[in-house]
Amino acid sequence: MASKRIAPSVLAADFANLQRDVEMINNSEADWFHIDIMDGVFVPNISFGMPVLRDIVKHATKTIDVHLMIVDPDRYIKTFADLGSTILTVHYEACTHLHRTLQAIKAEGMKAGVAINPHTNVSVLEDVIKDIDLVCIMSVNPGFGGQSFIENTYNKIKKLREIIVRNNADTLIEIDGGVTDKNAKQLIEAGADVLVAGSFVFKSKNPTETIKELKTLIS
Ligand code: DX5
Ligand code: ZN
Repeated sequence: MASKRIAPSVLAADFANLQRDVEMINNSEADWFHIDIMDGVFVPNISFGMPVLRDIVKHATKTIDVHLMIVDPDRYIKTFADLGSTILTVHYEACTHLHRTLQAIKAEGMKAGVAINPHTNVSVLEDVIKDIDLVCIMSVNPGFGGQSFIENTYNKIKKLREIIVRNNADTLIEIDGGVTDKNAKQLIEAGADVLVAGSFVFKSKNPTETIKELKTLIS
């Protein structure tokens, strides 16, 4: 099993000190940058768009994990590839032709991710699981940082792990929303590979130390 990863969510950074916060992640034990793109339609919030991502990528030295919370994500696959995304995650609920979308993401040279909302059963991914590099299980309703973790997530991780094993896939399981030092270890024990953490990292006194603590908890 590949090593477990921490992906700080830039959504919780200080946008007036973005380079500082990007460098903090570069110099920390974090593994990935998690980038939340929201359109105000798929989710009831707008985060930031391409110019901000372009400037993050200019400074970031780690994997760029982009989470698109937007309708009709197919329109922007090439744009996000050109911007330097390593992983592009689309929402299951926003894709009518998910299989086609996944192939289009890979054709642009990126890893393909699928995020599912709290109400979406993991079983809907079984027939495409071998085409998915990463499943992002939303452990809050997407749209905002700082929400509390939904406990049913543990059941979803276990069911998804069964699907991955049954199909002999090498899909990573990412958990997004409400991750703290209280649930990190248990999430990994349930079968998660990547933990996104926004508020818990950036609202702490020492984000670098907090990332280190999370890494210690999950390794
Ligand atoms: C929520 C976003 C998350 C968010 C997590 O819609 O997808 O990535 O930034 O934030 P926290 O860790 O504060 O719940
Ligand atoms: Zn996210």
